[in-house]
Amino acid sequence: MGVADVAIDLQDINVTFERKGETVTAVNDVSLQVKKGSIYGIIGYSGAGKSTLVRVINLLQRPSSGKVSVSGQDLQQLTDKKLRGVRQKVGMIFQHFNLLRSRTVLNNVEYPLLGKKISRKDREAKAFELLKLVGLAEYAQSYPEELSGGQKQRVAIARALASDPDILISDEATSALDPQTTASILELLKKLNDELGLTIVLITHEMQVIKSICQEVAVMADGSVIEQGLVGDLFTAPQQPLTKSLLSLRLM
Ligand SMILES: Nc1ncnc2c1ncn2[C@@H]1O[C@H](COP(=O)(O)OP(=O)(O)OP(=O)(O)O)[C@@H](O)[C@H]1O
Ligand SMILES: [Mg+2]
Repeated sequence: MGVADVAIDLQDINVTFERKGETVTAVNDVSLQVKKGSIYGIIGYSGAGKSTLVRVINLLQRPSSGKVSVSGQDLQQLTDKKLRGVRQKVGMIFQHFNLLRSRTVLNNVEYPLLGKKISRKDREAKAFELLKLVGLAEYAQSYPEELSGGQKQRVAIARALASDPDILISDEATSALDPQTTASILELLKKLNDELGLTIVLITHEMQVIKSICQEVAVMADGSVIEQGLVGDLFTAPQQPLTKSLLSLRLM
């Protein structure tokens, strides 16, 4: 894989926290590369270090050691100003949608553009286009509490797209949703991947989610990546007992 094809390159990442005088290793010597335009899954049980690892991608979490490159830029060498620029190119969505209750759906999507050099008219037009893209144009003037969980996640996705990211990180974005709604959100992510060329990093604890849209996957346990590779290979020939147990959960 040439450098130009790599969206995210993490090398020898360690993250430790001090807690009550003890050192907790949340991420333990993780290296992984995410190809531009691909959908990369990260799976593992609670506490494995998944969220901490993805927060390293935009240096919201600075690693204790290791190197972080995004789109060929070594983030630890950037000035704060340049780092802010890179961060805008990395959108994030979460299990809890974090929408602003007192603002309309349209205003929520516009929110990341406030304070940018863009006229109000253009800002609204852009937010409306994004709502169309996620299939919610008719809800522009509704308030978040009037929407279902799946609709709220669509608004959160539209908001994450407002700053034209190259990369979207989804941290358990479907965990609070029923299987059918999960499927429709995954379909939307796949569409954004296809149509916008968005690189997606997707954290989940469900193999089914990985299977439905990811090309590559890393399995995490106790801060380490214990197995990684093409999704097809992992499903047909899992190597680690943990991977096998995650696979068998899907049958339940
Ligand atoms: N700010 C922090 N201070 C101390 N310990 C932390 C901090 N953030 C995370 N940890 C610890 O690091 C480990 C990994 O946490 P992390 O949130 O990355 O796991 P996760 O895989 O995302 O879990 P989940 O599936 O429950 O979201 C846990 O043991 C957690 O308690
Ligand atoms: Mg987490």
